[in-house]
Amino acid sequence: MKSITSLAVLSMCLGLAGTAGAQDAAKPDAAKDAPPAEAAPAAGGHVLANGMDTTADHMENGRWYNADGVPTFKVENGVVDYAVFSGYRRYHSECHVCHGPDGEGSTYAPALKDSVLRIDYYDFQQIVASGKQDVNAAQNQVMPAFGTNKNVWCYIDDIYVYLLARGTDAIPRGRPANKEAKSPEFTTQENSCMDG
Ligand code: HEC
Repeated sequence: MKSITSLAVLSMCLGLAGTAGAQDAAKPDAAKDAPPAEAAPAAGGHVLANGMDTTADHMENGRWYNADGVPTFKVENGVVDYAVFSGYRRYHSECHVCHGPDGEGSTYAPALKDSVLRIDYYDFQQIVASGKQDVNAAQNQVMPAFGTNKNVWCYIDDIYVYLLARGTDAIPRGRPANKEAKSPEFTTQENSCMDG
């Protein structure tokens, strides 16, 4: 929406400039060239507005990552990767009480399935680790810090990829019906985090 608006404003300006003199006739062509360049990432269908490419590129310790090494999900024929399922479970035991079922939000806290389309993975991690407090005259809402809570922190990437899958509509609301088996690598990583 934002880029469409600014493009409209841009072409209006160029249009006005065009009426000022015949020598500006070349400018509308330049404006025509601009939209494909900006729209290109969205055409792939896997790049979010915040620049995150959700395409699963490689697996490490039983979890999927994109080409930049950021955790992402993989859903094939309705079967979710194990991290998404793990994230579904952890989200509903640790976050659901404030953020509502399925990442949909509540009157108290924002819809995290939408938040992950806007804020990036590193900001997401930082907020969950340190918390966040929005204090104004009307409300005093608190997002607790979870950085020392292993039930959250050992599964932070799972919660993130679950929310990404929800926010991009890769999975519907509710418990994922079909999931990949838990891999030995996932178990090893999980145990070393919980015991560490
Ligand atoms: C006690 C209630 C509560 C719990 C439990 C809770 N949150 Fe929050 N969370 C909030 C509130 C309230 C906000 C809004 C705070 C603000 O805007 O300052 C928030 C904000 C956030 C944000 C920022 C969202 C945005 O759009 O800016 C993230 C990310 C987040 N929470 C993640 C989580 C995760 C992940 C969990 C579970 C591990 C969790 N929260 C559990 C209350 C909670």
